[in-house]
Amino acid sequence: MQTTAIPFTRKDFGDDFLWGVTISAFQNEGAFNTDGKGLSIWDTFTSRKGKIKDKSHAQVATDFYNRYTQDILLAKLLGFSIFRFSLAWSRIMPKGTGAVNQAGIDYYHRVIDACLELGLEPYITLYHWDLPQALEHKGGWSHRGVVFAFEEFVRICAREYGNKVKNWIVLNEPFGFTALGYMLGVHAPGKFGLSWFLPAVHHAALAQAEAGRVIRQEVAGANIGTALSCSKIIPYTNREEDVQAARRADALFNRLFLEPALGMGYPEKDFPLLHRIERRYALWRDWDRLPFDFDFIGVQNYFPLVVKYNYFMPVVKIAEVKARYRNVPLTGLGWEISGNGLYEILKQFGAYKGIKKIIVTEGGAAFSDQLTTDGRIADTARIEYFQEYLSGVLKARREGVPVEGYFAWTLTDNFEWAEGYRARFGLVHVNFDTQQRIIKDSGYWFRKLLNEEMQ
Ligand code: NOJ
Repeated sequence: MQTTAIPFTRKDFGDDFLWGVTISAFQNEGAFNTDGKGLSIWDTFTSRKGKIKDKSHAQVATDFYNRYTQDILLAKLLGFSIFRFSLAWSRIMPKGTGAVNQAGIDYYHRVIDACLELGLEPYITLYHWDLPQALEHKGGWSHRGVVFAFEEFVRICAREYGNKVKNWIVLNEPFGFTALGYMLGVHAPGKFGLSWFLPAVHHAALAQAEAGRVIRQEVAGANIGTALSCSKIIPYTNREEDVQAARRADALFNRLFLEPALGMGYPEKDFPLLHRIERRYALWRDWDRLPFDFDFIGVQNYFPLVVKYNYFMPVVKIAEVKARYRNVPLTGLGWEISGNGLYEILKQFGAYKGIKKIIVTEGGAAFSDQLTTDGRIADTARIEYFQEYLSGVLKARREGVPVEGYFAWTLTDNFEWAEGYRARFGLVHVNFDTQQRIIKDSGYWFRKLLNEEMQ
């Protein structure tokens, strides 16, 4: 167990600060075709050759489907008071619309009940990237029908669980799943090009707001948010073309799903290509349906980004100056470690008048953890990461940014999308052959931080 003093205490964040830990359905549950579950785009994508770096799939993943009681207990033992997880749409509605699978509904009742029994407050994510494959056959996020299907799914979930669960996160990282899945083709469903991407963006932005309204209607006293990926954008030089590139990147990475929700429209001024969305959807008159009065915005920041102008990059004309060329500290995935980057982006988000409250709904790091001979994981680098990022949160909070919670990503090592199982983000180590769990030193670090002030 590491011994260096923690540079802050739980008390410094205030008694009402929310401490949570997060997982997602596809990355953890496994049981990909059990008890009537339909396939999702990630089930399909993982079965395609060459898509996942370590050639793995998530048919078993961390077996959370069967081990949820044990894992939720671990979250409790580490001192967290919130457990965030997502619902697999295709477990509840195997085809995405229409028939409901009672076994799926019952399963999430059991997960919720396990949380409540232990005094953990559930935060439900309604969409964490695993679209039912049946909907992808109809065009997925690029097809307008997905908005109605999502509303239907959300209404069913809200009616079913709304008397037990008040905290709802509509989408997880819409920029992530539209850009990686429909523009770059490196995530499910593996499509690329603007003709997929721009409609997917618009439908996700619309679905985000419509689903918010459904929950507001169905769940009395609901606390509704959406979780956005973001990165402080830094121009490589102060040459005008790099500064402009940084502005475009900021519009894309940080503002694309936030500003429509706040009633500001798409950030077209700084990213003129987005005019195309306006032209294409003029007929539908969607513009006043994009805003929704979220109770909180989830901020998910892993690294800052340094960008420069690049003529050869199609459409965006932006190139990233990779962290590995910049002599900065890196995680195991080559992501820059910068608690200051989180501080900066919190300040940026905090400056929007329309944001009432911010929760850091994810934060964490992958490192190549090694088991010591006495069976421990001495993941000092991860502990330092959390210290640095939480210091950034504290600084922003002290300067008046309404950031009211921090959820660690993630409870157990799990399936890290196209990276497979090699990227370990957990506070708890998983042996994927035996499913044995070992709490890492970072897990004990959280336990110490979170329990200290309560004794
Ligand atoms: C963002 C995603 O929400 C989550 O699923 C992923 O595992 C982490 N970040 C780490 O990349």
